[in-house]
Amino acid sequence: MVTLRTERLTLRPARADDLDAIHALLSNPRAMAYWSTPPHTHRDQSREWLAGMIATAPDEGVDFVIAHHGRVIGKAGFYRFPEIGYILDPALWGQGLAGEALRAVLGHVFTAHGLERAVADVDPRNAASLRLLERLGFRETGRAAKTWLVGREWCDSVYLALDRKDWPQRTA
Ligand SMILES: CC(C)(COP(=O)(O)OP(=O)(O)OC[C@H]1O[C@@H](n2cnc3c(N)ncnc32)[C@H](O)[C@@H]1OP(=O)(O)O)[C@@H](O)C(=O)NCCC(=O)NCCS
Repeated sequence: MVTLRTERLTLRPARADDLDAIHALLSNPRAMAYWSTPPHTHRDQSREWLAGMIATAPDEGVDFVIAHHGRVIGKAGFYRFPEIGYILDPALWGQGLAGEALRAVLGHVFTAHGLERAVADVDPRNAASLRLLERLGFRETGRAAKTWLVGREWCDSVYLALDRKDWPQRTA
């Protein structure tokens, strides 16, 4: 798997020793507010999650940890094609870092992997994520209610998609 570099970030394959950083993210209630599971309460949950990320076969997905000044601050990629997923340390939100990471990831999957379409499933309350995807060129394709039972709460979905043919204009 390749390593991608942007102006401020390095996107590289996950390793077992990323567990502390990954668990800090996945146990953070703010970062996990609109995730498909509640925040992790045990390191073993994050260990299993990280093992799944590391084990992803190249034809199934391509997922990167995001490093900033040598510290892992998030993840961005495709746990399973064609669905994109990302999470960033809340301390670094609002600086355009997720957009920078996703531009690199999308450019990579549309060229190196030949993916035709990337899709996303976002909680309608997740305004930052919806704005981020809109800025990248994703368009809404549908909505559904009660798609995820997260803890005891049913959550809804906005579905979005970005086609490869619509991507080149975004690289300018
Ligand atoms: C979604 C997330 C990755 C965004 O990270 P980020 O680095 O802050 O994103 P960026 O700065 O690149 O872009 C965010 C955009 O949303 C906007 N935004 C931020 N908070 C917002 C809010 N509450 N309402 C509306 N827009 C908002 C920002 O202004 C920016 O838009 P702009 O480029 O037009 O100014 C981050 O909030 C996160 O990790 N959330 C938790 C995990 C998550 O929800 N993942 C997605 C699951 S579908």
